[in-house]
Amino acid sequence: MIVLGLETSCDETAAAVVDDGRRVRAQTLLSQHDAHRPYGGVVPEIAARAHLDHLDRLVAEAVEEAGIRLADLDGVAATGGPGLIGGVIVGVMTAKALALATGTPFLAVNHLEAHALTARLTDAVPFPYLLLLVSGGHCQLLAVRGVGQYRRLGTTVDDAAGECFDKTAKMMGLGHPGGPALERAAKGGDPARFALPRPMVGRPGCDFSFSGLKTATRQVLETLPPGPLSDRDLADLAAGVQDAVADVLADRTRRAMALMEESGDSGAPPTLVVAGGVAANETLRAALTALCAGRGWRFVAPPPGLCTDNAAMVAWAGLERLRLGLTDPLDFKPRPRWPLDPDAPKRAGAGVKA
Ligand code: KG4
Ligand code: ZN
Repeated sequence: MIVLGLETSCDETAAAVVDDGRRVRAQTLLSQHDAHRPYGGVVPEIAARAHLDHLDRLVAEAVEEAGIRLADLDGVAATGGPGLIGGVIVGVMTAKALALATGTPFLAVNHLEAHALTARLTDAVPFPYLLLLVSGGHCQLLAVRGVGQYRRLGTTVDDAAGECFDKTAKMMGLGHPGGPALERAAKGGDPARFALPRPMVGRPGCDFSFSGLKTATRQVLETLPPGPLSDRDLADLAAGVQDAVADVLADRTRRAMALMEESGDSGAPPTLVVAGGVAANETLRAALTALCAGRGWRFVAPPPGLCTDNAAMVAWAGLERLRLGLTDPLDFKPRPRWPLDPDAPKRAGAGVKA
């Protein structure tokens, strides 16, 4: 089985060809970071226009690089949501047209499910497992029981972890996207110099909160000399924020692991998977590695290039759905919101897109 996948839900335009031997046959990706940088964040209209300008070419290049013809495809998948709706429409319409023209099934993939299933593409992880999904728009802990079967154990009550990185990085005068810039700036910094809070740590449940950390970062900045930060102040503050985020994520994950162990739902061996753009962060990976080692859990983190948005994960999720006959009609409507666990209680606040 060979599936083409398209990703256009945020600021990455991407196409990939994946087969059922877990092989990524081709991948093309265009990051729009330069186009959005002057605005300090993703501008939806600029993103949609850029997807439209580049997607056809990226699809053609991926198909050529894979050494196949469109007629060889068994399905065409696109992110059908959640995401910036203009971009999602571009990907969905392109995939529908390709599916119609080639007479193959169309697969509307939930972007979060694509992140969730990536570890099955990279490491053939069996169900069930615990997933920490940490990206710019999402911060959730999910029990993954099968394709389409998710139970949300925790989510953020305000910002997502990636959003916290992006916003604190912006306050420190770092570029967009903030996460990678902050990680670079933190190298050699002293994370203990500034006392920053660990919101929610030690509290019952598995929910997250990051707005207090954002406020505390602003307050620290107000105590420092005005103007650009010195290299030392920048490194120490960035390291402090990074450690605080990693501590919060590890604490909430520890609680979710205990819940999974109690319910006998943790898998054999019990497995923690991390996914989403923030999963590229080395400090977080180290914290989760230590957490799993201490509890006898397997820890799986896909390579950074498959943690941030990409089309291979969309093609793979489409392939998993195709194998189960879960194809979609051509009148599928792009979805700005699309929770993985529709039964989970609603949470109010920014960043809560599911
Ligand atoms: O999954 P993703 O590419 O897009 C969304 O679906 O949101 O995640 C992007 C987010 C951004 O907030 C970015 O700052 C963050 O992931 N990110 C990182 C790192 N690389 C990307 N955060 C911390 N450290 C990194 N190395
Ligand atoms: Zn994503």
